[in-house]
Amino acid sequence: MSSVLTRRGLAVQGSAKRFNLVANYSSRPNRNRLEYSNDCGASASQQRERSQTVTSYYNQSAIDAAAAKVGMEDGPSVRLTPATIMYAGRSNDHSHILKSAQYLHKELPVRIAHRIAGFRKLPFIVGCNPTILSVHEMYIRAFHILNDFPNIQDMKDEAAFSEILKGLLEDFSQVVTQLAEGFKACRKHLPQQDDLVRLFLDRTLTSRLGIRMLATHHLALSEDKPDHVGIINRHLRLQDMIERWADFVIRLAQNKYGKAPRIKLSGHINATFPYIQLPLDYMIPELLKNAVRATLEAHVNVSESELPPIQITIANNDIDFIIRLSDRGGGISHQLMPKIMQYTFSTAELSTEIGMGQNGLFSNMLDVANSTTSGPMHGYGFGLPTSRAYADYLGGGLTIQSLQGIGTDVYLRLKHIDSKSESFRI
Ligand SMILES: Nc1ncnc2c1ncn2[C@@H]1O[C@H](COP(=O)(O)OP(=O)(O)O)[C@@H](O)[C@H]1O
Ligand SMILES: [Mg+2]
Repeated sequence: MSSVLTRRGLAVQGSAKRFNLVANYSSRPNRNRLEYSNDCGASASQQRERSQTVTSYYNQSAIDAAAAKVGMEDGPSVRLTPATIMYAGRSNDHSHILKSAQYLHKELPVRIAHRIAGFRKLPFIVGCNPTILSVHEMYIRAFHILNDFPNIQDMKDEAAFSEILKGLLEDFSQVVTQLAEGFKACRKHLPQQDDLVRLFLDRTLTSRLGIRMLATHHLALSEDKPDHVGIINRHLRLQDMIERWADFVIRLAQNKYGKAPRIKLSGHINATFPYIQLPLDYMIPELLKNAVRATLEAHVNVSESELPPIQITIANNDIDFIIRLSDRGGGISHQLMPKIMQYTFSTAELSTEIGMGQNGLFSNMLDVANSTTSGPMHGYGFGLPTSRAYADYLGGGLTIQSLQGIGTDVYLRLKHIDSKSESFRI
């Protein structure tokens, strides 16, 4: 008996019970039927179809029941510390993998139900945006797939469950970009950056990060990658990661601006410690892209060799590690400082308007950049607020010092996962 999650739904062979899942999910509208649009508007027939979809989705008692479980004895959400995950026993009979699958099978529907409740509380006009609605529907679909999955009793069940996790990870891989697109399109309906939207995005994005870490960890348990316990790299070398992302961002900038500043690394460059690479793979490129863009836009007529380099400093200690990025990109003006941490705030439009757009440097920028793993150079206004939400979630923080007229210092501080003090929970 096996089941495979494909991009279009769950293809199941085997028992009648599992076969029912196919009937259920294939009759559900999925995102493939939704068109993505850059505006909150949709045609009348699309609207009608959606409002039916939405109404039926709003009456999901299973989701409500799961969401109500938090704090109750029969199924509270259980958040683990990375140390618990790291030092959880390994067994030759693979019972640690079975336990991990059973934990996820119970835990993920509860977390997803909470996110669905968050989508329902969005202002109506935002919830109707086709891109946001399609993400909402994806969460509902994921809830049912996981919640309806039979009890995991042996490694065969675990294998089927892992296939489902792989499919869901793939389906959800573009959620940050999709939400960024959706909220950007709705920006005009949210003139005041609403606390509700900020809270929704902080929670949705960090919860997604947590779920991805747990799911990826589970899948990695079966892989036995050297020097890793699941997703925890026991000897992560920040220098290697930063160099890899610096190369990536330099290539992106050369593609788009025709030049790029050097990126210099100093401080505790030889430090290695146990850490999870996944969140760093979002934050490091986002912060680097900002520094590189600022440097290039503040030095339009300067040759590549004359560009002021970006200085990155790593500091490591028993409690945490800090990555400081210093650029000489002119800083962030007093006027903009209060806005830069708001979701969807970006000066991208401005920079396209001032000159550079006309000479073609910005043309097809999204096409070039969208083909990469880390998203476009800039434009959604999600890089800073998402990085800060991730850093907070991981027991650290993101702070920015602007030297107006000169440049910007960004401090990304993250707690060690084996630190003596209280750790964050995934
Ligand atoms: N290092 C920096 N120097 C100058 N301005 C910056 C820097 N980092 C961010 N900003 C400003 O903050 C805004 C928001 O950044 P971000 O959230 O990454 O969104 P985006 O890069 O898509 O515009 C940017 O548009 C830019 O105006
Ligand atoms: Mg950015």
